[in-house]
Amino acid sequence: MNTLHLHHRAAHALCFTAVLLSVAVSGCRTHTSGPAADTSARPSSEAVKSASPALIEQGKRIFDQTPVYAAAYVGNKLACSDCHIGSGTVDFAAPMLGLAGLFPMYSKRAGHVISLQNRIQECFARSESGKPLPEESAEMHALVAYISSLSGDGEKGKPYKGRGLVKIPALDGNPAAGKVVYAAQCAACHGKNGAGVPPVLPALWGKDSYNNGAGIDQPAKMAAYVLHNMPQAHPGILTPQQSYDVAAYIHTKPRPKFNEAYKSY
Ligand code: HEC
Ligand code: HEC
Repeated sequence: MNTLHLHHRAAHALCFTAVLLSVAVSGCRTHTSGPAADTSARPSSEAVKSASPALIEQGKRIFDQTPVYAAAYVGNKLACSDCHIGSGTVDFAAPMLGLAGLFPMYSKRAGHVISLQNRIQECFARSESGKPLPEESAEMHALVAYISSLSGDGEKGKPYKGRGLVKIPALDGNPAAGKVVYAAQCAACHGKNGAGVPPVLPALWGKDSYNNGAGIDQPAKMAAYVLHNMPQAHPGILTPQQSYDVAAYIHTKPRPKFNEAYKSY
């Protein structure tokens, strides 16, 4: 099916780039294992019953190439799928699986009950360093249709088992130690200067990265993300302490500033 097809193309693009960068990338991960490989997505919500396959496909395109297909609302060069790996289907990379049915929910950051649309707007204002996608825009309808098409169990209000990020103990990161981890395990792909090679290898700091209001800008979230998902070709080789260290190092770097006008998101 298309989902897997597109994803393999992305994985090949990465292997190709990695070769260009002379990185020894053995076994480029394709993120198609587990529930991710189940493309018989169970459309069950009202949103999806009325959503055409074309709208769902368009939503996936926006998710995978956000700076191209939602350009007016994106301030950096990150796609949703740069963080929500495998087009939002990989466990503990904040997947979109089983999610739609959990909304509306209370948000601590916003201080009120939010819809799925509000949550998407939050990632646009912060992680995409842009501005909230209008509720009634074509892009919003497509993203909601795509995310809802990945729902299944979440429709019953039960969180998906691989939701969010992996649990990690609270530790203090040491930026000096993290600099060493970064040089050894991250710089080959994300660049010595953190700029990456967008859109294939995403930026970790600088103008093309998330802003300082993003969830992943919190060292504990970055550490949890990295512990389970990075380095991309060999995830799982870092200890929790090394993950905190590299998160602390990345946290010392410059990045776009969150626009306080959007602080209700
Ligand atoms: C820079 C990384 C990054 C980018 C880019 C990003 N997100 Fe997120 N997103 C996160 C993180 C981190 C979380 C929170 C995970 C947690 O705290 O458990 C999150 C959470 C979410 C959630 C709620 C998930 C849940 O389990 O409650 C949704 C929905 C979401 N993002 C949608 C999007 C969409 C749509 C885009 C693209 C327009 C996007 N995100 C771009 C990092 C990112
Ligand atoms: C083999 C290349 C490679 C290596 C090495 C690597 N990454 Fe990544 N990283 C990627 C790719 C590609 C993505 C986009 C998501 C995906 O497809 O896996 C990504 C995504 C990310 C993201 C979320 C997107 C963003 O730009 O904010 C973070 C954070 C991250 N990597 C941190 C790290 C850290 C820290 C290390 C070192 C411990 C590391 N990565 C090593 C390739 C790599």
